[in-house]
Amino acid sequence: MDIQKLTTTAQALVAPGKGILAADESGGTIKRRFDSINVESTEDNRRDYREMLFRTKGASEFISGIILFDETIRQNGADGTPLVKVLVDQGIIPGIKVDKGTQPIPGSPTELMTEGLDGLLARLQEYAELGARFAKWRAVITIGDGIPTDRCIEINAHALARYAALSQEAGLVPIVEPEVLLDGDHTIDRCFEASEATLKETFAQLVRQGVALDGILLKPSMVTSGNKAANRASPGEVAEKTVECFRRSIPAALPGVVFLSGGQGDEEATVNLNAINQRAAVVGVPWQYSFSFGRGLQGAPLKAWSGQAANVERAKQAFYHRAKLTSAARQGKYVPSMEKELSAV
Ligand code: 13P
Repeated sequence: MDIQKLTTTAQALVAPGKGILAADESGGTIKRRFDSINVESTEDNRRDYREMLFRTKGASEFISGIILFDETIRQNGADGTPLVKVLVDQGIIPGIKVDKGTQPIPGSPTELMTEGLDGLLARLQEYAELGARFAKWRAVITIGDGIPTDRCIEINAHALARYAALSQEAGLVPIVEPEVLLDGDHTIDRCFEASEATLKETFAQLVRQGVALDGILLKPSMVTSGNKAANRASPGEVAEKTVECFRRSIPAALPGVVFLSGGQGDEEATVNLNAINQRAAVVGVPWQYSFSFGRGLQGAPLKAWSGQAANVERAKQAFYHRAKLTSAARQGKYVPSMEKELSAV
């Protein structure tokens, strides 16, 4: 295993001002996104939509890497150019989602475990040949009555570590994603507890299974109140609790943390990321605090596009603008007035 190569890729993914676009929605998820704009989820529509994002001029000022779905890494653009080549030509690093979704945990059916370990090394090796340089695996932790259980946290951490070790073996940087879901009316303190327990177990498993921590990135959720909580915590509190939780739970060797947006609104995710970076600058932390947003970067361009070729330029502008603001937040330099200035592509 070439750890130096993994570290170099991980560091490039969190280069100053840059972060990741997650465009790896599975078949069911992209259908839900397309349903919201009344567009049929056909292979061509998925290709057109994603190609539009990938060909946004200047996006690589803010976007270091893009996570693809299995279909996309094998797809050609409308002019026959492989989409992987479109990204590489833009200076964007291609990545790949490798988990196979979630199933209920036996004996604890309101909790989920992630599948996809069988035959994973061969799949990773094929993805590396197709041009991927990093991989993503998402584990889901749900907060609710009596959950998350230790069993759920342990099963998911164990699978994340098995996947991470195999990814490094195949020369791909693992993006380790233990997502504590935003869904529910829980307080920020319950989210803190669940996040701390999850992160500590995840790193314990990563260390036990011999994963080189300087060759991975962590993709966590922010520490927030539930989306249905009565008095949701302010960005300042989100920042304070997130930074504190991570200082307690994450080893310093890690090159970076790339947050998911997790169903927060575009603006909410940006404001919270900005507050976290401002807090981190005060407290001092050893990692880059960047982003790996799916919905947080795609809400605006998806709506602007709405499946119409005539809207492509407007949608590209919306994507460029959102990426620019998220990049500013990733440096603690976002101000709300930036929402109004839509830049030309
Ligand atoms: P969201 O930012 O929409 O949560 O997506 C990130 C992701 O890749 C989830 O696995």
